[in-house]
Amino acid sequence: MAAPVVATSGVLCRALRAGFCRPHGARLLRQAARCLSPGTPAPRAPTGPPAPLPEGLRLLRGFLTPQEEQALLLEVEGALKRVRYEGGHWDQAIHGFREIEKSQWTEQNAKILQRVRDVAFPPGVPQLSLVHVLDLKADGYIKPHIDSVKFCGSTIAGLSLLSSSVMRLVSEQNKDDWADLLLERRSLYILGGRARYEFTHEILKDEDSVYNGERVPRERRISVICRNLPDKGTPYALGTPPENIDPASRL
Ligand code: OGA
Ligand code: MN
Repeated sequence: MAAPVVATSGVLCRALRAGFCRPHGARLLRQAARCLSPGTPAPRAPTGPPAPLPEGLRLLRGFLTPQEEQALLLEVEGALKRVRYEGGHWDQAIHGFREIEKSQWTEQNAKILQRVRDVAFPPGVPQLSLVHVLDLKADGYIKPHIDSVKFCGSTIAGLSLLSSSVMRLVSEQNKDDWADLLLERRSLYILGGRARYEFTHEILKDEDSVYNGERVPRERRISVICRNLPDKGTPYALGTPPENIDPASRL
């Protein structure tokens, strides 16, 4: 059964950012403190060996054909070029980026995105109709954070275009519990369950971009990300944040 896709009136990525990187009130400041590792502008190298990947993480390599990647790029580049890159402040989660949200797609690309939604989201879970498109410069990177539980539900599904990269997941409870994930160009990753709520995720800088001892050169990378809406009524696996999430960030 196809899940409902919900139209939102707000601007998704601004709302997500407001949750973790544009604090301007005490409440948002608390959220920022929870979502970003404090005072760590550069990703810290974990000391111990990596742990197995956390529950709830899925990676589908080669999800897109090169032709599908080109079709998506053609459409998102047209919209992105009207937006300026942002440098990013020290307390922002993302550096060297620009972003848009899109709800209207060509028929070909809408079909690809429906394929993403069909594999990523549990049936019947209301999804955000806006798709988040994030363009990271070659020297851009994403600091460790957890997407706002106020604005985003149980599942985050991201396509990687143009460049491979390394995503690092670190347990909030135990920094020694970490794992790296190679996000190959044209793959789809799905963050759900513990991986979504209990681990920070980050995209490593080019200079730190190494996977299993091999360099993964970071070029300009565009991600196309689908999310679902928070749903307080569903069991944990489908979306209710675990009890240890800061109550200030609950809906
Ligand atoms: C985000 C994020 C990851 C990606 O925008 O919150 O973590 O794949 N993006 O770009
Ligand atoms: Mn994120």
